[in-house]
Amino acid sequence: MLIKLLKTSIKVEVTRSLCLGHSNCEVMNFEAGSEVIMSAINIPDMVTVVKHHNLKVVPWDISIETTEPKLDLLPSLITSHTVAILVAHIFGKWCDMDPIIDVAQSYNLPVIEDCAESFCGFDVIGNPRSDLVLFSFGVIKFSTAFGGAIAKIKDESVYKKMLEVYGTYRVQGHGEFLKKIFKYYLVYLILLPFSEKILISAARFFGIDHKAMAVQMLRGFPDQMTQRIKMRPSSALLQMLRERLEGFSKSDFETGQVKGDYVRMRLPEEAQMVGMKAIINNYWLFPILVESPDTVLSVLNALGVDAYRGATQLNIIEPETSPNSDDPMTPIDPSYPSEARYLIDHVVYLPVNKKVPFHVLNKICNAVKEAIRLSKDSPKVRIQSKL
Ligand SMILES: Cc1ncc(COP(=O)(O)O)c(C=O)c1O
Repeated sequence: MLIKLLKTSIKVEVTRSLCLGHSNCEVMNFEAGSEVIMSAINIPDMVTVVKHHNLKVVPWDISIETTEPKLDLLPSLITSHTVAILVAHIFGKWCDMDPIIDVAQSYNLPVIEDCAESFCGFDVIGNPRSDLVLFSFGVIKFSTAFGGAIAKIKDESVYKKMLEVYGTYRVQGHGEFLKKIFKYYLVYLILLPFSEKILISAARFFGIDHKAMAVQMLRGFPDQMTQRIKMRPSSALLQMLRERLEGFSKSDFETGQVKGDYVRMRLPEEAQMVGMKAIINNYWLFPILVESPDTVLSVLNALGVDAYRGATQLNIIEPETSPNSDDPMTPIDPSYPSEARYLIDHVVYLPVNKKVPFHVLNKICNAVKEAIRLSKDSPKVRIQSKL
């Protein structure tokens, strides 16, 4: 069924795309110390999985305009130790893979596409020339099934070996899946505007940060991650995934696009947009870059806009051997992912999605204008929360 849905002959489905990356590393059995070039923004767990296999991660800077890794840098990052290139399509935007694969193939290197954040239906399912394409259906993803991931694997023998490895992993119990659903339902209740007000008062009384608590609950497998990701899905999860994929509605998805575009057109110029020149510009997250992100964030929160900086785990991948940047005499390393650094240092995520009504989107745009204006007036602006 999933095969038909993804219009491909080869697939594996698992509980997390991290698990797929893990089993792929096991199968490829790269020599310890080999290098994997990764686009410089991803979640830390992805780096942990690669490092767990004694591989070195080489970050590859990305462009803020497109979110694509910078093609011209690629040849300078490839060494005799490079064994794979991993491109992440972040924030729901898609990178143009063909030029990257052309370079990779000229060095005989496999290409992995991390599409965890970019599922948008069955018209775009990764480049057929990529060796491994990973989709995630974890919580907060487009078409979430509260877990589950799909891989497209180009090479039949790699697919068979991955299936063998994967066959040794234990199957998730129904109870575990049910527990997860209850947990996410609780998070959903915590974040409802109605319950939020009651909770905020209670949390303040007990000195608890209720949003941090919700984020913590959303993050799966915090401890012993590399062990715990080795898990196959329960039949309940597979059924859920099947229903979510069968029920995928393009028009419903496009409502999110309309809302994203609506906000994009109304934001002030000082709010720099991310990935606007991406070949496919979907809005899984809605990042903007501002001069004083912490001040802008606190003003937005005070104005009742639930913008955030830390809720997503996306972060820069720092080079393993970074020069001491505190020393002004240290020459700038041309391969340092400085654009990725700038993005992470200046990003604020706006709460824009298909469910947000237009009048609230207007409020968000006005609040961003106000927050930027105030942040310019005084770096130390203090606003009392209206919540
Ligand atoms: C870019 C990226 N890669 C990989 C993953 C991991 O996906 P999963 O939770 O299915 O393991 C995520 C999840 O948030 C992600 O955002």
